[in-house]
Amino acid sequence: MHANLNVMKFFIDTANLAQIKEANDLGILDGVTTNPSLMAKEGIKGQDAILKHYVDICNIVDGDVSAEVISTDFEGMITEGEKLASLHENIVVKIPMIKDGIKAIKYLSSKGIRTNCTLVFSAGQAILAAKAGATYISPFIGRLDDISYDGIQLIAEISQIFAVQGYQTQILAASIRNPVHIIKSAQVGAHVITSPLSAILALLNHPLTDKGLAQFLEDHAKANG
Ligand code: E4P
Repeated sequence: MHANLNVMKFFIDTANLAQIKEANDLGILDGVTTNPSLMAKEGIKGQDAILKHYVDICNIVDGDVSAEVISTDFEGMITEGEKLASLHENIVVKIPMIKDGIKAIKYLSSKGIRTNCTLVFSAGQAILAAKAGATYISPFIGRLDDISYDGIQLIAEISQIFAVQGYQTQILAASIRNPVHIIKSAQVGAHVITSPLSAILALLNHPLTDKGLAQFLEDHAKANG
């Protein structure tokens, strides 16, 4: 599946199959991101169950599915990364933003394996991951907001740098907490957002929509008896 870099993609940030199905049924879902905490939250444990769960997710969504390595050393990350990538063509290997992670991104990308560099909190980290050939970088905007930094400002900064430099790495705005994060990410040039289902569904809401619809239905009912 080729990305249209001009249209922001929607990923869901969960390992919950019911929520992934619900978002997919909306018709707007382009992919899924998971992490070890999200897998643990669903009670998925043990190597076989974890690998099977990634395949189950790939069988629901026709789009990229990020699966995160647990190793923190180069050899471990590339061994895990190759195994994860062999599960399904839509798997993207999620690699942490650490020194060995950069080496692993470079290695995996040279083998044609797509990567998502996770736990990005600065423009410098984003530049290094892009230089190493990451397919995606994931700046965690909510966690920055949590410590009084401006997560959206970071997305804007990286977006400007990538445009000036012509990096092909996609900016995947992660750690989304609310619908405003999604709107602002679109405004400042994120290529993708990954969000809990609740923030995606919150985009639907406006009291004037509800009020207007109720009025239309009431007027129709009055006119038609
Ligand atoms: C990114 O891919 C992570 O899974 C995620 O967005 C982290 O979000 P959190 O800060 O809500 O845990």
